Amino acid sequence: MMSEPTRIDVAGERPYPVLVGRDLLLTLPGLLDGAAQVAVLHAPPLATLADRICAGLRKARLAPLPLEVPDAEAGKTIEVAARCWDALGGANFTRTDAIVGIGGGAATDVAGFVAAAWLRGVRWVPVPTSLLGMVDAAIGGKTGVNTAAGKNLVGAFHPPVGVLCDLSTLDTLPPADFVAGLAEVVKCGFIADPTILSLVEGDPASAVDPSSPMVRSLVERSVRVKADVVGADLRESGLREVLNYGHTLAHAIEKVEAYCWRHGHAVSVGLVYAATLAWRAGRLDEATASRHRSVLSLLGLPVSYRPDAWPDLLATMRVDKKSRGARLRFMVLDGLAKPSILDGPSEELLADVYREVCS
Ligand SMILES: NC(=O)c1ccc[n+]([C@@H]2O[C@H](COP(=O)([O-])OP(=O)(O)OC[C@H]3O[C@@H](n4cnc5c(N)ncnc54)[C@H](O)[C@@H]3O)[C@@H](O)[C@H]2O)c1
Repeated sequence: MMSEPTRIDVAGERPYPVLVGRDLLLTLPGLLDGAAQVAVLHAPPLATLADRICAGLRKARLAPLPLEVPDAEAGKTIEVAARCWDALGGANFTRTDAIVGIGGGAATDVAGFVAAAWLRGVRWVPVPTSLLGMVDAAIGGKTGVNTAAGKNLVGAFHPPVGVLCDLSTLDTLPPADFVAGLAEVVKCGFIADPTILSLVEGDPASAVDPSSPMVRSLVERSVRVKADVVGADLRESGLREVLNYGHTLAHAIEKVEAYCWRHGHAVSVGLVYAATLAWRAGRLDEATASRHRSVLSLLGLPVSYRPDAWPDLLATMRVDKKSRGARLRFMVLDGLAKPSILDGPSEELLADVYREVCS
């Protein structure tokens, strides 16, 4: 049974709705007006859902073109995108046709990229099925693939025509992936919507239960935070940087771990690090700084990393794209929901804070 979805609009040159609710898939054809064919890109774990979506499209007299891609990061390559373009060419896929990307952030990123480049841009709709996909990857129009030189270095800004966050798809998401996605939810709480933090603190068991009404509320609130930011800054001219809270150290951990750590786990450690740094730099009060560790721990997220890894992490952060020259920049908080930049903290302070967080 479809419940009434919540609609959150993303502003911009071509505004689009993000629908959050359960059993929303029937609304998909309504977003694809005028299409004759709809490519349905998905990885093997979402094959059953893709079949259901294809059946729904047929019922609405749209011709589905299933495109199965390898799972997770293995599907986020230029070779996979090229195979999809070959399939679109073989089907005479036209400018009025559309693409649906079903899955976690990796699948929706590649689906969006295939859509951005085919005939210089066709319509697309992400159907995120991971928590991270719903609150982060599928919103904002950033699409792309990985290359030998690194993750997400090739891509395009190509906003979708709508996003369907169908919470019933979370029922099959492995619990560890669900909890990892909560790190981005907590991030949204600290940078913009502290009610998220109170909800989690009040009932952490519901926060980790994908079928709970609280999760719907957490997704809606986090989507609103991201929608507000990207609606005001599609092309990352500056505002969007707040979304990188916790991500400077997180990206370094992910690289040092050769991307075998979940992104959300790395973000969780990065949030604790950024908060402790802000406190030690005199920017944030101690209670708000330590609240990071306590909220994330309540959810079972990691809050520290290997103490001996600091030299590698520092070297990796130095080549991070957010640093300017040799100076490192960190998104920090001046208070709850008051994000700002800490530019060029000393190496000594950075190392001290790491020792404090990770020893
Ligand atoms: N475009 C953006 O703005 C943006 C933002 C953040 C992250 N990302 C990208 O998102 C990706 C990470 O996304 P992720 O954490 O969703 O990982 P993922 O896409 O690799 O998915 C994780 C695993 O969960 C499986 N899965 C997803 N939904 C499922 C479901 N409902 N049931 C069963 N299995 C399911 C996937 O098939 C995969 O095996 C990265 O590539 C990252 O770069 C993009």
